[in-house]
Amino acid sequence: MISSAGLSHSLDSDNLERDREEDLFVHRSHFPALGVDNRTYFNYGGQGVMCGAALDAINKNFRHIESLGSFSNAAGDWMVAEYNATKTAIAQEFQVSPTTITLTENTTVGCNIALWAVDWKQGDRLLLSDCEHPGIIAAAIQIQKRFGIEIDYFPLTNTRNASAEGKDSETVVELLVQHLQPQTRMVMLSHICWNTGQVLPLKAIAKACHDQNVLVAVDAAQSVGVLPLNLADIAADFYAFTTHKWWCAPLGLGALYIRPEIFEAIEPVFVGWRGLTNKLPIPQWRQDGAKFEVASSTYALYESMRIAIAHANSWGTQLQRYQRICQLSKKVWERLDALPHIDCIRQLPPESGLISFKVNQELIPSSSQSAIANKSHALIAKHLESEHQILIRALPNPDCLRASVHYLTSITDIERLISIFEAIN
Ligand SMILES: Cc1ncc(COP(=O)(O)O)c(C=O)c1O
Repeated sequence: MISSAGLSHSLDSDNLERDREEDLFVHRSHFPALGVDNRTYFNYGGQGVMCGAALDAINKNFRHIESLGSFSNAAGDWMVAEYNATKTAIAQEFQVSPTTITLTENTTVGCNIALWAVDWKQGDRLLLSDCEHPGIIAAAIQIQKRFGIEIDYFPLTNTRNASAEGKDSETVVELLVQHLQPQTRMVMLSHICWNTGQVLPLKAIAKACHDQNVLVAVDAAQSVGVLPLNLADIAADFYAFTTHKWWCAPLGLGALYIRPEIFEAIEPVFVGWRGLTNKLPIPQWRQDGAKFEVASSTYALYESMRIAIAHANSWGTQLQRYQRICQLSKKVWERLDALPHIDCIRQLPPESGLISFKVNQELIPSSSQSAIANKSHALIAKHLESEHQILIRALPNPDCLRASVHYLTSITDIERLISIFEAIN
């Protein structure tokens, strides 16, 4: 997962940063959304921006299907080739076999597949962190209603200042283990928390849970495209993600990694022809990730996703991109943290691209003429978009602003954002 050597090297390495800034300029020019005059983009945790080649491929591939003849054998063969190439490309990023990959539409579908794959019995327990996304909590509550299970929450928020490495990581694992009970069958948690940006020590968590026969399902919405990942080494049982955020691929494409060791023992809930072999009697499941896929989907998008991954790799390795994200988010965090009227949610530099912070209105002088004075975070985000073309997200819990810093973020972007908050007086 995270190489501590790589991370600490990155934090000292200003030369690397300067060199990379120059070739970033050329690389960024391939992204139409980053070329819009004066627009400054800090919403990668919501949705990424697409490069021109990825955008063009969507149109090209819909046209290609029509030219081959929709539902022709030729179009069918083309779709199968696209499907296989896409699973291969995803698997390669995680150093796992393509057979472990299920294609979905988004993170939430992958999390649902994981949550509903357990043969829950009344009295079983599901452990969630208190930082999970509302859609995932809702799925857990549906399972609770359906099967009479109990949901426990462990207070991850209290450890938001813990690092994913060293002694701190042990504290997080110990906290989680304290909340496991004999009836706990699964832990569902994010690899990177969407609200605090905290990175969890997932490999150690997976080991501690497996020692107690507990499955580990991961919401990876905020980690894929950010952290260097070796999923076989981490050994979580389910790793669900989307490609439209940090990977900058089209909306509507996600995937789920399932650890081969549990594959036989779990069954899909939503099913369809994609998961079946051609043998009778049905159902007989395919022995790869397709077992959890359902039916027709938008094959014309697949190449666009592969182009997005290849484009990111053409700039730098996963580790190099992660190093740049850490360098830049440290810069943003330090500058914000130095301002008296800004409270950063974490008290140490981020280990991800998510920087959450509050504007402390009580510390803004009552004489202030700033348009940010006396505004809620939601209204500040609206104001930044409409008046400054700075796109940043307001979060409900904690009530704060969240800036997403990508390897595509430039120093100029950062200066524009920070200057808004520095100008408050
Ligand atoms: C942690 C987390 N989980 C799930 C989601 C939902 O993602 P998707 O729309 O890909 O299902 C998000 C989106 O913002 C998220 O941040």
